[in-house]
Amino acid sequence: MTVRVGVVGTGMIGQDHIRRLTRVLPGAEVVAVADANPDLAREVAAGLPNADVHPTGQNLINSSGVDAVLVTSWGPTHEEYVVAAIAAGKPVFCEKPLATTESACRNIMKEEVAAGRRLVQVGFMRRYDAAYRALKRTVSDGVIGAPLMYNSGHRNPSVPSHYTKDMAIVDTAVHDFDVTRWLLGEEFTSVQVLAAKPNSLGEDLQDPLLMVLRTESGVLVTVETSVNIRYGYDIRGEIIGETGTAALADRGPVVLRRDNQVSTAVPVDWRERFVAAYDTELQEWIDAVASGAGATGPSSWDGYAAQVVCDAGVAALYSGERVDIELIEKPDLYG
Ligand SMILES: NC(=O)c1ccc[n+]([C@@H]2O[C@H](COP(=O)([O-])OP(=O)(O)OC[C@H]3O[C@@H](n4cnc5c(N)ncnc54)[C@H](O)[C@@H]3O)[C@@H](O)[C@H]2O)c1
Repeated sequence: MTVRVGVVGTGMIGQDHIRRLTRVLPGAEVVAVADANPDLAREVAAGLPNADVHPTGQNLINSSGVDAVLVTSWGPTHEEYVVAAIAAGKPVFCEKPLATTESACRNIMKEEVAAGRRLVQVGFMRRYDAAYRALKRTVSDGVIGAPLMYNSGHRNPSVPSHYTKDMAIVDTAVHDFDVTRWLLGEEFTSVQVLAAKPNSLGEDLQDPLLMVLRTESGVLVTVETSVNIRYGYDIRGEIIGETGTAALADRGPVVLRRDNQVSTAVPVDWRERFVAAYDTELQEWIDAVASGAGATGPSSWDGYAAQVVCDAGVAALYSGERVDIELIEKPDLYG
């Protein structure tokens, strides 16, 4: 079965996912697109073999020719489209964030629970990265004993001019929050945010930030965001266990030794670093849709939990205080 996918939002990541569904991965065809900018939607559709342009996202979602929906529009529009897809009984892959407020995430969960089956998957692609998957196996196989600490580093060479200081948490660290919950298999209970001496290249951004979090069992987690660090896009992660440590390895395919130096390449940006993870993420989603499973990856609950941590993180950034993180009871649908 070829899954007929409709894409709402044909901006940067929308076009990238359309490329992978059209040219890289088997099992899906992009048959419909919609965007608030109709010229852009038309331009993107013109590059596809068989895609209709719909006047609105709602119209696309309700089209009988669309089996499954990819939401890659602006974050504040996600709730509306995800809820519409659930109402239409269609699997929906929503780029992060699931929604931009806790109440919107809860509303999505309410609708999905009422539908009685998982239809929603959230775009937390790190869970599909081979290195993170290997790191998770070291924890679950018990080879370093029980985790006691996890240090996560998220370093960007630079950020666009519209990047605000809150985005270090809601746009950048959100990936670290999600992948840490997944690696450790537990929720966060508190967060504090410390600002370092500001990087003068970041103008009025408070950059770098160090976030200090606790999990339910007491694991201490740090998340460093440095978004003007120039040298490359460098994603770090190290678990300190009771009997050993495990860290993400450096990325370069070769290690170069010359002129009294040892070096290896650092990715240029997130596209390069996670290109294979995005491919695996969408392939597993297509396979789940084709098999009738609806969604098997990061759930609405994961989107909700990450949003609550982000909200607490932003509050902690402004107050300088430690902020408690409290989640509602997890609906049975999410295991
Ligand atoms: N998982 C990741 O690593 C990752 C990476 C990049 C972006 N994202 C997420 O993907 C989403 C899109 O990001 P982007 O970088 O592609 O942004 P973008 O601005 O390039 O594209 C967003 C598109 O949404 C369209 N849009 C806005 N309102 C709309 C509406 N009501 N209905 C339909 N279309 C609408 C805009 O016209 C634009 O074309 C964001 O939520 C972002 O956080 C995730």
